[in-house]
Amino acid sequence: MDLSFRPLHPLFAAEVSPVDLRTTESPALLEAIRAGMHQYGVLVFRDQPFTDDEQLAFAERFDGALHAKTGAAALGGNRFGNEALADISNLDENGELLAADDRRRHYGLANRLWHTDASFVEPSGRYSLLSARAIPPVAADTEFADMRAAYDDLSPELKETIESLRAHHSIAHSRQVLGFEFAPEEAEKLKGVIQPLVRTNPVTGRRALYLASHASRIVEWPVPEGRLLLQELIEHATQRQYVYRHHWRAEDLVIWDNLATMHRGRPFADTKYRRDLRRVTTLARGSLTGLCAVQPARE
Ligand code: OGA
Ligand code: MN
Repeated sequence: MDLSFRPLHPLFAAEVSPVDLRTTESPALLEAIRAGMHQYGVLVFRDQPFTDDEQLAFAERFDGALHAKTGAAALGGNRFGNEALADISNLDENGELLAADDRRRHYGLANRLWHTDASFVEPSGRYSLLSARAIPPVAADTEFADMRAAYDDLSPELKETIESLRAHHSIAHSRQVLGFEFAPEEAEKLKGVIQPLVRTNPVTGRRALYLASHASRIVEWPVPEGRLLLQELIEHATQRQYVYRHHWRAEDLVIWDNLATMHRGRPFADTKYRRDLRRVTTLARGSLTGLCAVQPARE
């Protein structure tokens, strides 16, 4: 069966023709989806009624080893008892809405800042597969920004300036920006890693900005100057022309490449409506890790 990709935006993101990913085993089909990921950076699949186990199994079939060193794990176990299945919901262990002052809610609110998944660990995150189990009756969208197009449009001078720069990424940083406080033993687990500002897709050769609200400073520069550069780059890369906004339907599966895009959740009345999404993220590894010259954090 041939897949068809219907572009959702002039630069990136496509909806893939009906296919049941739960039962997709065919190497040719998986390869066609991987090729689609290289081209589009974000793929939307409708009508994928995944169970947790099916979602985990598909992610492994698609791209191998899974990310399980989540920031949330440093705060307490997740409600599924499996750190590879990230809880992107506003629900507690009994399936009830989190109260406005619940610490887990405050932690999750940082997903509304522009970010990439798992840029704060090594190996970092590659593909995220987010499955929509329950969606509110009001818009509770996710936005994606194309970091390759944003890179392409930088001036030659700026490209040269940032080529050899590295940023320190820590999930604690994006939370602290919002006033979230960590206990010392939590902070100890969330020290973060150093990442290049530009990453190259080894298959397509396309370069992309590698940014996130987890980035706190540029290693080679004074802190204020580095923060200003990071802020300026995020501002540039998230201008309207680079952004696709996804309006969720229950049973959607959206896959994005964390080395080609950033994303953020949009605000909605989350203490009023249930929203239950579950994410599995694969690891950037092998040639990708080597090419990116990622080094461990100094502190
Ligand atoms: C995620 C994420 C945003 C949202 O799943 O990694 O950031 O809209 N989600 O829930
Ligand atoms: Mn995310």
